[in-house]
Formats: sequence, structure tokens, C-alpha cells
Amino acid sequence: MLRSANKKPRGHAEMEPFHYLNGELHCEGVSLRAIADSVGTPTYIYSRAALLENLAAYDRAFAPVPHLVCYAMKANANLGVLATLARAGAGADIVSGGELYRALRAGVPPQKIIFAGVGKSREEMREALKAEILLFNVESPSELHALNETAQGMGVRAPVALRVNPDVDPQTHPYVATGMKTAKFGIPIADTARVYEDATRMPGIAVRGVQMHIGSQLTKAAPFADAVDRMVRLVESLRPRGIEVGLFDVGGGLGIRYADETPPTPAEYAAALLPALRRLNVTVLLEPGRSIVGSAGVLLTRVLYRKAGPDKTFVIVDAAMNDLIRPAFYGAYHAIRPVLEAAGGRRGERVDVVGPICESGDFLAKDRDLPRVEEAELLAVMSSGAYGFAMASNYNARPRAAEVLVGGGGYTIVRRRETYEELVAGESMP
Ligand code: LLP
Repeated sequence: MLRSANKKPRGHAEMEPFHYLNGELHCEGVSLRAIADSVGTPTYIYSRAALLENLAAYDRAFAPVPHLVCYAMKANANLGVLATLARAGAGADIVSGGELYRALRAGVPPQKIIFAGVGKSREEMREALKAEILLFNVESPSELHALNETAQGMGVRAPVALRVNPDVDPQTHPYVATGMKTAKFGIPIADTARVYEDATRMPGIAVRGVQMHIGSQLTKAAPFADAVDRMVRLVESLRPRGIEVGLFDVGGGLGIRYADETPPTPAEYAAALLPALRRLNVTVLLEPGRSIVGSAGVLLTRVLYRKAGPDKTFVIVDAAMNDLIRPAFYGAYHAIRPVLEAAGGRRGERVDVVGPICESGDFLAKDRDLPRVEEAELLAVMSSGAYGFAMASNYNARPRAAEVLVGGGGYTIVRRRETYEELVAGESMP
């Protein structure tokens, strides 16, 4: 853990899995150049030590209460990543039958799986009931009825929390804000008592808890604390009516540092939430995604060409928006570091780092000040472990990147590069 005098210790955020060694960027002491030479580029590279430390930081922070970290696997559903976290005790927050399948394949115990999402199909409900998962987070009265019928049809009861929309402003990007009343998510907090009462009368439903998730990449603790306060008051009003709330799911959403943000550490986050939560005597469920995997991964890419336009200099690389869509989709910032350290001598320049895709939106960085990089050089797009590969596509018939997990002084290819044959698998010609 790196600490310097002028910065406050930032717990897990300061765990620096990617570092320069002898002038070259390494991951846990493993050379990124060596990985590129044998696996090729573009490639996602994840640090096992960072994954485990980010998970452990939550466990330490919430140690005063019974709790379970259900990793939000939408952030990165690679089997190697999931299995690493599952072996360290994490559960999974899933949003589809496909994620259930992946979680079970990776060895996540069903008793640690929770199922979120506004549009669960009856087939997905059946699969999750059959697996006997811990909890369904239900987002509407219609979904509750469908789940009740599905469970009754199978002769079982579905364990349920209602996802409550507490109507707080998370102060984040509008595409990832979910806890305001304009969002499609959750049940408005004013309606929840009535829906809970309906739920307790349903033979296929067993009420177990409450859930919230107000947004992603939050950089302040206050919106979380506000929402938890509202939810605690809700729970206190439900209990006298005999509505059982043993599980309190606070969702995910803790931000990470992409540029100069200073998000709360898990310890600071816990300090803001625990005073209210401890009043309730509940098991706290957590659904972090980004803060577990984001800082643990980079996207390694090679410079194909330099191109000087009339107004701009372009650095054209072999990774594109199909590999990492966050800059194009959210205008997100990802730091970019040359694998060969800018050893004093390089002059700086302002460039757009762009991919080969036929869209002007295909960029990884715009108007970015970087040390001058040459053709064939390797670049690392930092903090790409979350919502990187997970949102990758085959646009422009580009095979998806390889994924590598570094750990114990070596590395494993946890997903090999897609082949052309795989691109057309499943298609046929009439
Ligand atoms: N729980 C629920 C119900 C969620 O909807 C999400 C994220 C999480 C947990 C995990 O949130 P996290 O801890 O990762 O912030 N693609 C976007 C982020 C979308 C987040 C969607 N929901 C991005 O690249 O920024």
C-alpha cells in the first residue's frame, strides 16, 4: 500500500497493482510487455491481489455487523474473476439468467446469490428458484405477482426484498443514477408499505428484506447515508405490522478514482452507514461492482499509427469502442499510461487516442495530454476492470479481446481472444 505525506491514506484505493519497474509498467511484478508479446493486444489484464484487497476492504469495514458482499457481476463476469472472489467468500448480485449460469459455473454458492433487475422473465425466475438463491430484489407490483405465481407453480416460496426507490439525488452521471423518482428502478418509497402488505398475503412469497441502489460511481457518502436513513425509517414502520425484515441490502455504487475524484473508502462508507443500520439488527447485504474490479484492471493496447490532422494529432490504437465503450457512451475519463515509462526525455503533446472503428465516437481519450508515444508502443488504459470487457461487443466484426488474470508472480489467460470462427458461430445462410 502506497502512502505519501501529502495525501491522506485512501485504504484500498491506494493499493497500486500497476506500477513501473525498471522503466516499464508491470502488474504485481509481471511485465505487461511480456503479456502483450505472448497474448497479443488488445488484452484486459486484472490483478488478483487488487481484487482480493478491494473485497477485503469491504469485509473489514462491515465487520461490526453481520454482512455479505454480493459482488455485482455485471461489472465483470469473467469466470476467473468470479471464482477468485467466490473463493474469498463473496456472493454475487445477478441481473439475468445468464449471470446466474455464470455465477454457478464459477462456484458461487446459491445461498449467496441475489437477483436484481426490473425485467426478470418467468423463465429466469424459475431458474433462480430451482437454484434456491438467497433473495429476489423485486422492482414492481407486477413482477411480485409474476414471481408469486411462478413460485406457487413450483410449490415453493420465493425469498423477496422490495427494491425501494428512496428518491435521493446521487449526484452522478444521469445514465447511472437510479434512485430518483424519475428512474425506472424500484418502488417509490411512499408505496412500499402497501406493496409489502400485499406481499405478506401471497403464498408464493416470503418477505425477507429491503433493498436500495441509488446509482453508480458516487463520490460522496452523503447520498448513501440519506437513502439509508429513509430506508431505516421505512423498516421501523414495517416491523410493528409484522413484516419481517432481516436483510438490508444497501446496493452498490461506491465510486473509484478515474482522474482526481476522492470517493469515500469502504471504511468511510461504512462509517456513514453503520450508525443507522446498527439500530435495526439486520444482516447487511452489499452489491459493489466497480469498486471491486475497476482499479484492478487495465486494457492493454498497441499504437498502430500516428496521424496528424489539420487541427489535431491522432494516436490510432488497436483497442476501440467495442472493447471499452465508457469514453464513447458516458464521456468517461480513463487515464492512459505508456507501458514504457516516459523517462524524463519525452516531450508532451495533446492527442486524441482513437480506435479503428468507423465512427467518430470511437475514442478512448479526447484532447489528452500525454507524453509523445510512437507507433508500435504499448499503452495501458487504466481503471478498466469494471464495465470494460463486460460491455464489449463485436461491432465491426471485431473479435473480443483476451482477458488475463495476474497473480502469484504469473498469469492465466482467463479468456482467450475470440476467433473469426466464433464470430459466425450460430449463424446460418438460407
Ligand atoms: N446493484 C444494482 C442494482 C445495480 O444496478 C448496480 C449497477 C450495482 C449494484 C453495482 O454498482 P457499482 O458498485 O458497480 O457502481 N456501465 C456503467 C455502470 C452501470 C451500473 C449499473 N448498475 C459504467 O460503466 O459506468
